Amino acid sequence: KAIHYRCSDHNMASTALEQNGAGLAQAGPTLPPNASRLPQTAQLDALLTIIRDASTPRSDFIFYSDRIIRLLVEEGLNHLPTVPQTVMTPTGFEYSGVSFQGRICGVSILRAGEAMEAGLRECCRSVRIGKILIQRDEETAKPKLFYAKLPEDIAERWVLLLDPMLATGGSAIKAIEVLIENGVKAERILFLNLIASPEGLNNMYSKYPQVKVISAWVDERLDEKSYIIPGLGDYGDRYYSG
Ligand code: URA
Repeated sequence: KAIHYRCSDHNMASTALEQNGAGLAQAGPTLPPNASRLPQTAQLDALLTIIRDASTPRSDFIFYSDRIIRLLVEEGLNHLPTVPQTVMTPTGFEYSGVSFQGRICGVSILRAGEAMEAGLRECCRSVRIGKILIQRDEETAKPKLFYAKLPEDIAERWVLLLDPMLATGGSAIKAIEVLIENGVKAERILFLNLIASPEGLNNMYSKYPQVKVISAWVDERLDEKSYIIPGLGDYGDRYYSG
């Protein structure tokens, strides 16, 4: 049962429309106001095509998804506020630049989110990284917090929340609840993911409209088991045990 989704076609078409200033509505998915995608370039599509391919070996899956994670982290950093900063260059002249306004930390949602930690460390040297483990409660079928280890001063930081796949949004919403309980302001949370579903984006927006969500790509839909379609299967399985 091969079903062919030409995601690249519609997303590239939507990029052309965006660049023409002709609006998003016709071709690409219409995103909630708190959500954005990486620039939908052919390079990004090529990287995603490799990791979506069921025959890609684990080592390539890791290498190419690490590249996308790096792009996501770089884009996330573009959303952080800066303040003016002037420095003296070796030529003896001043340069009026900027520096980041506040400190950041990462929080990965276990297990798959841990795969994004290295990409964050590559961009932000000695960054603090917390971890949250959320699993489905067998009795209530709702996401339940099993473990959280967060930097003690997290309330003063901007938080890059890491989870590669935004499916229903259940785990991310629970993780954000935990961050807010620990004093983090919702508007200081950036949620980075590789592939999002429209359902997950809408759920996130209706619960936490102040949280910014940055996805590399937005796919078509969820299936009955809440897998993203066409997606890439189980990210954690492919990254850790492929
Ligand atoms: N998590 C995954 O790893 N893949 C999906 O498709 C959905 C959630």
